[in-house]
Amino acid sequence: MSNSKAAFRQLVFSGVQPTGNLHLGNYLGAIRKFVALQESFDCIYCVVDLHSLTATLVHDDLADQTRQITAAYLASGIDPKKHIVFNQSRVPQHAELTWIFNCVARMGWLNRMTQFKEKAGKDRENASVGLFDYPSLMAADILVYRATHVPVGDDQKQHLELTRDIAQKFNNDFSDRIAALGVGVEMKVGDETVNGFFPMTEPIIGGPAARIMSLRDGSKKMSKSDPSDLSRINLTDDADAIAKKIRKAKTDPEPLPSEEAGLEGRPEARNLVGIYAGLADISKQEVLNEFGGRQFSVFKPALAELAVEKLAPIAAEMRRISADHAYVDAVLKDGGERACVIAEATMKTVRDIVGFLQD
Ligand code: TRP
Repeated sequence: MSNSKAAFRQLVFSGVQPTGNLHLGNYLGAIRKFVALQESFDCIYCVVDLHSLTATLVHDDLADQTRQITAAYLASGIDPKKHIVFNQSRVPQHAELTWIFNCVARMGWLNRMTQFKEKAGKDRENASVGLFDYPSLMAADILVYRATHVPVGDDQKQHLELTRDIAQKFNNDFSDRIAALGVGVEMKVGDETVNGFFPMTEPIIGGPAARIMSLRDGSKKMSKSDPSDLSRINLTDDADAIAKKIRKAKTDPEPLPSEEAGLEGRPEARNLVGIYAGLADISKQEVLNEFGGRQFSVFKPALAELAVEKLAPIAAEMRRISADHAYVDAVLKDGGERACVIAEATMKTVRDIVGFLQD
């Protein structure tokens, strides 16, 4: 199309659910990356409260959990003036686009989602429709802003693939209308150059701390639902708790290797080295350059000191910010209003593409 745009605006979107306490895995795997991306992208960071209903329908503290995540974003250094921070339910266009995507996505696609299978467990008949539909809402979160990049943990990779599948099917099913309205953007899909309304969003995954594991079992992800509090470092832990959990972290009897390959088959060692690398913002190999050949009796105190140094100020700032309801609520309101402007512009065009009658 002669009147199609040449490229999508580079935009980052990501979200965190307001459920349970944030831990080191959320911080290193997600929020720290969000902070770094602010330098090179326009970013939208969301507290996905609609998604949180898929885990627990009736919360007695949803508002406070929402403020907690917001406080974590702000305490970690996200700038809500340059970028956008808001809670999902303030922008009803997310839910509106989800409905359209529900009619684009196929049952078979959602049936393959491993997160649904894990969360629903054996009793699928009793899982909520919302839990099944979770990835469609996630695709709408991203595409209602036509975001091009999404920093996420590697457990969300499959949902990002689904997001691209939905975008591609929408672009394809409505290609004539997109062309007729002149609202397409040229993009490469495989070897082909196509004209679509939604971008093929790329995940931003990886780094030395992409996957932080339990401190008690290096084969399990660090999780808020692990019954043992010793398995995780919460962002709200004080210095003593952080130091104690690292001291008690499971290890093996060998000294640290000098090369990264030597971490193979040593999940606990790999995890602690990854945590150090993530906190210090260096590679695992750089950590091993310093600590290779040393015992955990040397490495653990160094790791504890680093963790306290990096996390204690964030915890203190989180406590201060989350207590200031007026400030946090004002940030979310302002962010919601700015998000709404972008989301409504997308939806106006989507309604035209689909053919709804509107003003
Ligand atoms: N599913 C994500 C998680 O559990 C949270 C999320 C919801 C999200 N919507 C999103 C992440 C959009 C990135 C983009 O981590």
